[in-house]
Amino acid sequence: MPSADSPSGLSKDEATQEIERLSAELERHNRLYYLDAAPEISDRQYDQLFRRLEELEEAFPDLASPNSPTQRVGGAPIEGFDEIRHPVPMLSIDDLFAEEEVVKFFERLQKNLGEEKVPVVIEPKIDGVAVSLVYRNGELDYAATRGDGVTGDVITANVRTIQTVPLKLGKDAPETLEVRGEIFMSNEAFAKMNEERDEQGLTTFANPRNSSAGTLKLKDPKEVAKRPLEFIAHGIGLLEGTELESVSAYHQLFKKLKIRPNEPLWHADTLEGVLNAIHELDEKRHHMPYQTDGAVIKVDSRAQQETLGFRSRAPRWAAAYKYPPEQKETVLKSITIQVGRTGVLTPVAELEPVFVSGTTVSRATLHNEDEIQRKDVREGDTVLIEKAGEIIPAVVRVNKDKRPPNAKPFNLYEHVNGQCPSCGGPIRKEEGFVAWRCFNPECPAQATNKIKMFVSRRALDIEGIGNIVAEKLVERGLASSPLDLFEIPEETLAVLNLGTDEDPRVFGEKNAAKVVKTLERARAQPLNRWIYAMGIPNVGESAARELSRLHEDLFALASSEVLKTTRKIAELEAEQKEISPRNKSNPPADDEEKQERQKAYDELKEEIGRLKTEIEPYQVSPDAGPVVSASLLSFFESEAGERFLSRLRELDIKPASDNHAPKPAELAASGDLPLAGKTFVITGTLSKPRPEFKDLIESKGGKVSGSISKNTDYLLAGEGGGSKRDKAESLKVAVIGEDELNAMLE
Ligand code: IVH
Repeated sequence: MPSADSPSGLSKDEATQEIERLSAELERHNRLYYLDAAPEISDRQYDQLFRRLEELEEAFPDLASPNSPTQRVGGAPIEGFDEIRHPVPMLSIDDLFAEEEVVKFFERLQKNLGEEKVPVVIEPKIDGVAVSLVYRNGELDYAATRGDGVTGDVITANVRTIQTVPLKLGKDAPETLEVRGEIFMSNEAFAKMNEERDEQGLTTFANPRNSSAGTLKLKDPKEVAKRPLEFIAHGIGLLEGTELESVSAYHQLFKKLKIRPNEPLWHADTLEGVLNAIHELDEKRHHMPYQTDGAVIKVDSRAQQETLGFRSRAPRWAAAYKYPPEQKETVLKSITIQVGRTGVLTPVAELEPVFVSGTTVSRATLHNEDEIQRKDVREGDTVLIEKAGEIIPAVVRVNKDKRPPNAKPFNLYEHVNGQCPSCGGPIRKEEGFVAWRCFNPECPAQATNKIKMFVSRRALDIEGIGNIVAEKLVERGLASSPLDLFEIPEETLAVLNLGTDEDPRVFGEKNAAKVVKTLERARAQPLNRWIYAMGIPNVGESAARELSRLHEDLFALASSEVLKTTRKIAELEAEQKEISPRNKSNPPADDEEKQERQKAYDELKEEIGRLKTEIEPYQVSPDAGPVVSASLLSFFESEAGERFLSRLRELDIKPASDNHAPKPAELAASGDLPLAGKTFVITGTLSKPRPEFKDLIESKGGKVSGSISKNTDYLLAGEGGGSKRDKAESLKVAVIGEDELNAMLE
């Protein structure tokens, strides 16, 4: 074929060859870079080869293979994951939590095989996500999650983006090979990614495993390609076209096929050998760059594996010894005090850095002063640190033998000289609280944390402002309260320095534009999100929801009669208790006082009764009880609260409720509402989230309760919800579905 008319100047045959050559070359360099850490060419040279391949694939689209190295950047987003039945079930593995259990396990192997020596391999248990990779004729056919062990989700497009997953296996590949292994993130890459996410205002992950699992569920492979996932093989499933006699043999095959094998690997045939390997691995694993949480012991011979067989969902030929969470001793250099959103002072242990479970730890939370006193933690102490699975470490206990003679008991107030470490304002402990607090509304530490709360995902969800951005905005004087965010010019944001003066790093135009856009959207977020975002003490998400049901918008909330009455009732009830002639801690001195107090008591009782009748129609749920009401009103009555409202007016922001239901019961009492006086309990999976049904029922005069009793009228049940269904039936409570509910509303 003449080649002159094709864009690349190649005939189809030539292109086929060239594409194959470039693919193999690129995959080789991939391996050298990611697997062997020994690159032979520069990034630039790699990019040139990559681009050449891309061009050829564009010119000859029918020659482009889904397993081309160009596909590692991620293809088109997908709708959802198909399911696939595993050709060989993906079993789980029995855990051994103590060395005695390892002894029993090995003795059982000896007994069942009738041999004194049982050759086994010992290898790390990687704390990642299990995956099955099926290769046919040397090409990756599909990748699947473990799922329930029988069927899993097909995640091929996502897995292709992982550089250490080979897309082709070369000429030594068996006809069919199912590689089993783990997908994970290295400690370092995980920490870096979390930091970057935080800077971009995205949610951070608790640990590398959660992060890997979350990433594999993404429906956009291009996003997956940006995450630092890795793969290591530790087993095989389906195998056709060759025989493998042992774990050792497939370990060798992995190496030959350039599939990253699980290492290090120990061989042993005695109990002593197994225990030695477990101890050696425990030493080694702390220096490995990813999380491991155990040692897997496997019978080496596949024939012996078959003899031993399975028990329910786990094989008898393998077990995982789980290491106890690592604990390390270190010196607690000092205790520093952090100031939270509401001014609460939290003590933090500043540690001599120690390497624990794969990361360097230099801080641990001490929760509050009471906890410090309970554990008697002092500055200069040697303490035991533990990191149990999660990333935030804890101080387990103090090693008092190593306490310096001059170590003084910790006293928070003295420690900070009675001043807030952020603003220097006075600190106080409120009656009945364990925490010290700074009450200065202008305190910068509080400002930063208020902004963090305001922008968080469950509040106004302002993507792009993470912890570091929030800190810098306050530090550079661009914001001292959340509403300031709405007035920072985009140009100013774009040049915000997130680094230091010596080593500047600007926020950038793209990020600034994104923030401005999400702020625009935040203006129209519903009232409940706004209430929650304000970060008022005691006002959580469920309180916010109830408050937004009771009020049309934020301005109505600020001057709410219902809340004032709720607060008033609580105050009067406290007073009533105090003056009661039957108050044992303050008994009346004589008969005269007794009668006077009885009179005052009766008056209060009447007043309380009147107020209760007044708000009764609103059926305020305990979510917005006296504590919430008082906290909210005291904010709106404060100077800070007044400023907040007038700023909102200036900014022309009017947060409005999306579930406002005025006085349901009053209307219900007049018989206008169809569900008047009826009590519902909701269970199971319905077509919409449960809070929506709750709002609907309440807006029609009904009540919704959390548990079934003989006073329940109806159980609204979706799919599932077994135990409540059983209870309803035993109490003869009517069980209805969505259709029946809708019929009742008509
Ligand atoms: S072998 C039948 N080896 O642990 C035995 N599993 O098995 C199959 N895991 O989710 C498992 N590291 O993905 C084996 N070196 C290792 C492993 C390992 C991690 C995971 C595996 C599975 C879980 C329980």
